[in-house]
Amino acid sequence: MTTTLPGNVPTVSLERLPDLLRAMPKAELHIHIEGSLEPELIFALAQRNNVQILYASVEDLKRAYAFTNLQSFLDIYYAGASVLLHEQDFYDMAQAYFVRAAADNVVHAELFFDPQTHTARGVSMAAVINGLHRACEDAKATLGVSASLILCFLRHLSEEDALATLAQALPFRDKFIGVGLDSSELGHSPEKFARVFTQARELGLHLVAHAGEEGPPAYIWSALDVLQVERIDHGVQAVKDPDLMQRLARDRIPLTVCPLSNLKLCVFPDLAQHNLGALLDAGLVATINSDDPAYFGGYMNENFTQTFAATGLTAEHAYQLATNSFEASFVDAAVKQVWRDQLDAVFASFAT
Ligand code: ADE
Ligand code: ZN
Repeated sequence: MTTTLPGNVPTVSLERLPDLLRAMPKAELHIHIEGSLEPELIFALAQRNNVQILYASVEDLKRAYAFTNLQSFLDIYYAGASVLLHEQDFYDMAQAYFVRAAADNVVHAELFFDPQTHTARGVSMAAVINGLHRACEDAKATLGVSASLILCFLRHLSEEDALATLAQALPFRDKFIGVGLDSSELGHSPEKFARVFTQARELGLHLVAHAGEEGPPAYIWSALDVLQVERIDHGVQAVKDPDLMQRLARDRIPLTVCPLSNLKLCVFPDLAQHNLGALLDAGLVATINSDDPAYFGGYMNENFTQTFAATGLTAEHAYQLATNSFEASFVDAAVKQVWRDQLDAVFASFAT
């Protein structure tokens, strides 16, 4: 069986679709680097840093990864991050992610990090940012993966805390490209962070926010109109509001969708019911990402192959998702063109 692709994109047989998904170059724009901490690394760092953890073994910890909603995950995610103390720990965590990303043909990654999770435990902002930034530089040099950092504010904390965090990060302004908003969504609407996002905008930082993961379409409107974000993280609840869908399509506001995360956090009852296809077919700039791969059962290529197998998305959608990920990234147009050319070469090599 074959699928017809738009324009000059070659036709690819459906049997070869999983291999094509794995081989095609892609950008990852929604990865919490603390969510890439594998259980084995949590235990190794706990031992190295003499930190007590609640679980007796790696298997014991993995058994706790049975989530019912976002909050049930976040409680375990913050506990896992407590093993990170020194600059080298942040480096090692990010380096392990980049090795996996390179294996999945991720050519570019924009990494979220949660400094408040660490500074609240007495870890310095310097240790967090310098460790992550050094790993980004080495990923480019040794793996050919370009990477940048996006500092996220925890929305369950106050805006004053977020403002203090931004001030603390300013000496490292050249080491991160933007700010985001994450953690517990329900009850913490984006407008709570209007002032800190205004400050970040005035500093020339890129702006993104989680919205519409569990929360209502109103939170997506607020992220767009009050925070003035350039991308929406998740955003899958947008389908409940036709006006919002039109706005997202018209302004080409990307959605960084995370299918395996949505499955594990019970946003959708099963992957077959995921609305990624509907978002793409409505003309939205939707992308596939892994969110917290160590907790949700898969990195980029698992997200692609499992979602396509469950929903019946086609090679045409694959091409769209890869080009969307380049379009949505915060890099120069010339670099995006290089990646699109690489994508075309891979599609050509899979042509029937
Ligand atoms: N922090 C890490 N993963 C998250 C998610 N999926 N939603 C909100 N905050 C997060
Ligand atoms: Zn996320």
